[in-house]
Formats: sequence, structure tokens, C-alpha cells
Amino acid sequence: MFDWEALKAEAAVAMGHAYAPYSHFPVGAAALVDDGRLVVGCNVENAAYGVALCAECGLVSQLHISGGGRLTHFVCVNRDHDVIMPCGRCRQLLHENGGPDLLLLTVSGVKRMDEVLPDAFGPDDLA
Ligand code: THU
Repeated sequence: MFDWEALKAEAAVAMGHAYAPYSHFPVGAAALVDDGRLVVGCNVENAAYGVALCAECGLVSQLHISGGGRLTHFVCVNRDHDVIMPCGRCRQLLHENGGPDLLLLTVSGVKRMDEVLPDAFGPDDLA
């Protein structure tokens, strides 16, 4: 049985580092990689509001800079440590780096990536 509470706790720690002075909506994300590594991210906003980086952006960057691999389990949380859904753009990022089998803890339980982003456009479409 996968320990989602432990992964959620890592996301909550990451959330504590968020820079969200404009939305006041700090987000933390955490994921496991297929070799057992943990990767995390927090949202980082900008005075030019549209430039904000979602927590998932930092997480995916950490995935690549720490050796690559595939995401296997993912969760993101808000200030209250409640699970939130990744935004549409970040579902695309997660799909690219975890594929259809990636498991996400969502507001309606554990779901596969291909349930959260059905019929995704992905790398195969460019082959
Ligand atoms: N946000 C994330 O970090 N990830 C998501 O998947 C949803 C939204 C951030 C972006 C912005 O800094 C704040 O939440 C409010 O939208």
C-alpha cells in the first residue's frame, strides 16, 4: 500500500517555501520517481502576474536536474494541506514526465494520469 500521507507531508513542506505574494495561494507539490527519488516544487509568482510558475514547474525541473526518470506518484496541496488538482497546463507537464500510468492523489481519490487528462496530446503524437 503506497504511503500517500507521507508524500502529502512532503508536498506540505514544499508549500512552506512558496512565493505567492499576489494570489496568497501557496502550493506545494511532491512526487516519487521510478528509482525511488523524491522531487518537490512550490509556486513562485511574479509582479508580472502571468509569469507565475506553478509548483509543478519546479518539481519537473528538479526531476531533470537530479537525474531524470519517470514520475510514478504525485500530489499537490494548498495552504491548509488540502489536496488540490493540478491546473490544466500542469496536467500536461505531468503527463509528459509520468505518462498515462502516473498515479495522482486527487480530490476524488487516487487516479491515473489518463483519467485526469484523457486522450492527452503527448510525445507519441509527434512520432
Ligand atoms: N498553482 C500551482 O502552483 N499549481 C497548480 O496546479 C494550480 C495553481 C498556483 C499558481 C498561482 O501561483 C496560484 O496557484 C494561484 O493560481
